[in-house]
Amino acid sequence: MKNIVMFCGKGGVGKTTCAAATALHYANKGKKTIIISTDFTPSLRDIYEIEGVEKPAKIADGLYLDEIGYEEIERLWDQKFGPEVYGVFSTVVDISYEEFVAFVATIVPGIRDEFMVDYIRELSESAEYERIVWDTAPAGQTLGLLGMPSIVNEHLKPAPRIYSRLKASRKTKRSVLDVIKGWEELSNKDMEFLRSDVEFNLVTIPEALAVRQLDDIIGEFQSYGLNINNMIINHVVKDPDCDFLRTKAAMQQGYISEISAKCGGNQRILYMFPYEVKGMERLQEAERVLFANDLST
Ligand SMILES: Nc1ncnc2c1ncn2[C@@H]1O[C@H](COP(=O)(O)OP(=O)(O)OP(=O)(O)O)[C@@H](O)[C@H]1O
Ligand SMILES: [Mg+2]
Repeated sequence: MKNIVMFCGKGGVGKTTCAAATALHYANKGKKTIIISTDFTPSLRDIYEIEGVEKPAKIADGLYLDEIGYEEIERLWDQKFGPEVYGVFSTVVDISYEEFVAFVATIVPGIRDEFMVDYIRELSESAEYERIVWDTAPAGQTLGLLGMPSIVNEHLKPAPRIYSRLKASRKTKRSVLDVIKGWEELSNKDMEFLRSDVEFNLVTIPEALAVRQLDDIIGEFQSYGLNINNMIINHVVKDPDCDFLRTKAAMQQGYISEISAKCGGNQRILYMFPYEVKGMERLQEAERVLFANDLST
């Protein structure tokens, strides 16, 4: 059992809802849990209906929440990597530090994506929490985030040859080659972390467009050597008792079979509720449905 559980999928399918219910599940089981969002338009505070701005925020006993926004990522990135990357960059280009940070933020956003993976890896290593539930932005951004470590690695391959011809300025504490080697190691470490420590849950709904996108998403994960561990089928109609719901349920049935065939049995179902899933009581209900057959965790 992996201690970090990530939720991904296309827009609006219920990633945040499933992540919130799953975090509640672990906390109910007595595991100290943090739910962390790297979606830049986060909604977890609304879903749990908590106010206040503490970071991390306490939701209930053993359940905490942290939302990481753009500004925070920029600040943390700046603290951890900024001066070092600037050290390398400023050997080639005459640029002030402030201009450089703005440049990185706008032109090379991928570096910050990698930093998110790194941030969660460090949180995991700190062993502060027994479970980390990771809610992400809609599929496009998530996959960019996953690919980042290997992309950075790829781009850095020719770098030593180029940089080794340049003399590092006096301001640079470590040699340029050392710094590049450090980035490479970091990329490998983050990729390894994703492969070995993170459980991936792909959330989908039984509708044509969502099902069609599944192959692309699964394929992209595989291209990074990552596997989807569980599929969650959300918005499933239960006990249809009118023509409207019977028609919808019949339509869903075909798609559910298709999804099941793709995921080889590792699937959970979340029924469609007649209300939005918001507040503790409703999240508990979603948790009961999602983990109805689960005796292990
Ligand atoms: N099973 C369900 N029954 C009823 N409403 C649901 C269910 N699952 C999700 N919802 C509602 O659908 C809306 C979208 O859900 P959610 O925010 O979890 O999706 P998301 O995939 O995280 O979206 P985004 O891609 O924007 O991050 C919310 O209002 C949520 O309450
Ligand atoms: Mg969401």
